[in-house]
Amino acid sequence: MGWPFIGNMWSFLRAFNSQNPDSFIHNLINKYGPTSIYKTHLFGSPSIIVCSPELCRKVLTDDKHFSFGYPSSAIRLGGKKSLYGVPNSEHWRLRRLISDPINGHRALALYIGHIEDIVIPSLEELDTMDRPIKFFTEMKRIGLKVIAQVLLGSTKDSILTSMVEYYTELFPGVLSMPIDVPGFVFHRAIKARKKLVKMIEDEVDERRATTSVPAGMNKGMMDLLMEVKNETGEKLEDEHIIDLLLLILFAGHETTAHTVMWALIYLNQHPQMLQKAKEEQQEVIDETLRRSNIAFTFFRKAEADVNIKGYTIPKGWRVMAWHRAIHMDPNIYPNPKEFIPSRWENQRLKGRTFIPFGAGSRTCPGADLAKIQISIFLHYFLLNYELEQLNPNGPISYLPLPRPADDCLARIIKLP
Ligand code: HEM
Repeated sequence: MGWPFIGNMWSFLRAFNSQNPDSFIHNLINKYGPTSIYKTHLFGSPSIIVCSPELCRKVLTDDKHFSFGYPSSAIRLGGKKSLYGVPNSEHWRLRRLISDPINGHRALALYIGHIEDIVIPSLEELDTMDRPIKFFTEMKRIGLKVIAQVLLGSTKDSILTSMVEYYTELFPGVLSMPIDVPGFVFHRAIKARKKLVKMIEDEVDERRATTSVPAGMNKGMMDLLMEVKNETGEKLEDEHIIDLLLLILFAGHETTAHTVMWALIYLNQHPQMLQKAKEEQQEVIDETLRRSNIAFTFFRKAEADVNIKGYTIPKGWRVMAWHRAIHMDPNIYPNPKEFIPSRWENQRLKGRTFIPFGAGSRTCPGADLAKIQISIFLHYFLLNYELEQLNPNGPISYLPLPRPADDCLARIIKLP
């Protein structure tokens, strides 16, 4: 259980601030044996870590015994009225509201054209820059542009640039100590959140002031959230609409930007695979999701004393479905640190041991939209451009999500 109050945070941070984040889980396995279930104290709570495919699935799909259990910093930054803050009973209704417009063949087919209209000119613009750019920041700008189109039905470049900046300040606060005092990461994140709330509030007010959707714009998720009524005929409060939009704008661009960037870095390191990727994009995306482990764990909370695998998890404890350990398990994925897209020719792996989008009632609702966006991006990039990283072997920062410490400083070169 580690030290009083800070628990095992020190050894967790040491591992995740080094170049070998998996040393944290390997230490537990070496010390206590390969039981796949460990007792610890992390992010301010007594916690259980589960790290086998069976136990992760059990925790993620058993809504009776486990509720959403992210640290309070994540819930506060995600919003009390967003999917992260509301109780399970309300979660189901709100989740359907936001999932319907971004799932299913018809909805996704509609977005392909929009995504192409954003990705192609954005890549052309990057190519005209004569100095190295922070590729990761540019990917976030393009990702936010896509998700803003889906949500707000419009994209104003001026507000998108500020939004990327504020989300970049908010992000490190997600897994930080929730201390809202100047000088602390969380304080900066809360300040950035307030600015984002104001910007989204302005968008909602502006849309409400216009009677119909302006020419050239499509109905976005915002319009649908503003129109919807519950069984008793009541509309959603503005706070609900804003918190929902703020969370989805966030979840919808950070993740896809990370995945696109890692796919291109891995491919650059492996020229033969770059060639193959031009033919087989799907396998590349799946291997990137496995290897980069965008989220290293999913947080739940035990709602009752639960017995799993002969151990009792006490009521109130946090449970972490540590899926990074599954994706990096050499018994499941031989040479797990190697980027080997051809391992996905064995489709049997997918059903049981591959959970980059989570599992159960909280499974990522944006998974299909994300895959379409990443595919379109990679397609145009691989066929027309080259990424020249300035520090290809530089260090990686693993928290909150993995990225090169220099934000992937690079030149984008158009292929002849
Ligand atoms: C590569 C891209 C993405 C990855 C790897 C990813 C991953 C995930 C994972 C693992 C979860 C579940 C967390 C848990 O169970 O504790 C999740 C939830 C969520 N994701 Fe994604 N995501 C991606 C893209 C997107 C996109 C494009 C959107 C928006 C359109 C989105 C919106 C959401 C939302 C709203 C939730 C919360 C769902 C709920 O609590 O019911 N994500 N995502």
